[in-house]
Amino acid sequence: MLFHPPRLKLQVLKKLFHPPLFILPQFLLTQVVLVIIPALAVSLTLRLMGWSEMGPPMTLPPLERPGKPPVPWNLPFFWFPPIMFSQFSQAHVDGVLMPPNGPDCWPKTDSNKQWIVFYRLDGMTFTGTGTIEGNGEKWWELPCKPHRGPNGSTLPGPCDSPALICFFLSMNLVVSGLRIQNSPQFHMKFDGCQGVLIDKLSISSPKLSPNTDSIHIENTKYVGIYNSVIANGDDCISIGTRCSNVEIDSVTCGPSHGISIGSLGVHNSQACVSNITVRNAMIRDSDNGLRIKTWQGGAGSVSGITFDTIEMDNVRNCIIIDQYYCLTKACRNETSAVYLSGVSYNNIKGTYDVRSPPIHFACSDTVPCTNITMFEVELLPFKGELVDDPFCWNSYGTQETLTIPPIDCLQDGEPESVAEVSSYGC
Ligand SMILES: *[C@@H]1O[C@H](CO)[C@@H](O)[C@H](O)[C@H]1NC(C)=O
Ligand SMILES: *[C@@H]1O[C@H](CO)[C@@H](O)[C@H](O)[C@H]1NC(C)=O
Ligand SMILES: *[C@@H]1O[C@H](CO)[C@@H](O)[C@H](O)[C@H]1NC(C)=O
Ligand SMILES: *[C@@H]1O[C@H](CO)[C@@H](O)[C@H](O)[C@H]1NC(C)=O
Repeated sequence: MLFHPPRLKLQVLKKLFHPPLFILPQFLLTQVVLVIIPALAVSLTLRLMGWSEMGPPMTLPPLERPGKPPVPWNLPFFWFPPIMFSQFSQAHVDGVLMPPNGPDCWPKTDSNKQWIVFYRLDGMTFTGTGTIEGNGEKWWELPCKPHRGPNGSTLPGPCDSPALICFFLSMNLVVSGLRIQNSPQFHMKFDGCQGVLIDKLSISSPKLSPNTDSIHIENTKYVGIYNSVIANGDDCISIGTRCSNVEIDSVTCGPSHGISIGSLGVHNSQACVSNITVRNAMIRDSDNGLRIKTWQGGAGSVSGITFDTIEMDNVRNCIIIDQYYCLTKACRNETSAVYLSGVSYNNIKGTYDVRSPPIHFACSDTVPCTNITMFEVELLPFKGELVDDPFCWNSYGTQETLTIPPIDCLQDGEPESVAEVSSYGC
């Protein structure tokens, strides 16, 4: 059931060798450090195929940073100077690959916003049976992280933590087979890409690890995410602005914060998201299930969203649209909003956590949500009884079958103001 986005070429094994370039654009100033644990080294092979075609697989040099004091590692490790990974056609990891262990060990001169960066690639595969271990624990415990300061407070201050694997401005990517875990921040991030195939990944970090979204995409089109198992402390998959033609099939999430479109429209920005399908997902023990979140004051639209055949197991807010998303609880209501239209929930079954209603449509006051369709949505309490009824505000659509629990707040037909909001089109 592999999905081939139209522009995805799978013949990436073609001889695509150029010597590695030791140049990074200024904004990507990062150094990539690969640390290998000796105990696990037996099972480790790191083959960067682009290089090995030069001769025998390259022996990576031990760390030497001329003119700089040695970095206090206890482990032997290998060092890559800054690399523009645009010359690789294939990276393969068996065994374990990890970055420096926490902020104190992170080389001070390197960006702490990302670790492995792939940039301006076309036709790259990143595969293997190995593990990318993020060593995130010491980052999660920084006092600036939510509730990690003294007595459960959150201290102010910069809180940058590295995203583990980033792809920027790249095309025709395949990432498969790997286990990716304990990232300091996002596990994988795709920005400005086209043609991404993700298959058979296992991504995990603890339930309370902050901001450890597993797969985040933005400005990215033609994406397939398949057959993956994800557990983490934040969004299982998050879809940001200017994403379209995304198919997610056979993914298990939980614990997590569910599958999320958004947040969109922050700082009055225009968001455009369309043609997103999530099918055959299992979501368990999660704070949200299927979520669309937008800020007040945004513009643009979200349309053509299909959630089909999703099983919920003890999920809070199984189905939620929140157009009042706000991190501080102090956001003003504004007159513009991202326009949501054409969201279908089809065959969504299972159990919800009764602390909040399983269905919650909070659409903007001025810009209603339209064309929400519900077919065979049946959600039962995991334990106890529902306290609040499903909630809707300014939301229009149809129930093709009786929804359980019943919702009578979804309004039929189209709102009068819909003509005006069509100007929000992307
Ligand atoms: C933490 O709470 C304890 C007991 O309430 C208090 O004695 C202590 O001063 C607090 N510490 C800080 C840093 O606020
Ligand atoms: C929607 O996206 C799928 C890939 O997920 C693609 O095959 C299909 O052509 C897209 N539909 C439209 C109308 O663009
Ligand atoms: C914003 O509007 C919503 C819906 O009308 C309302 O429930 C909420 O109290 C308003 N918030 C503010 C800060 O005015
Ligand atoms: C309603 O949304 C569905 C997809 O969920 C779409 O196929 C249909 O064309 C939309 N209808 C209108 C009137 O926009």
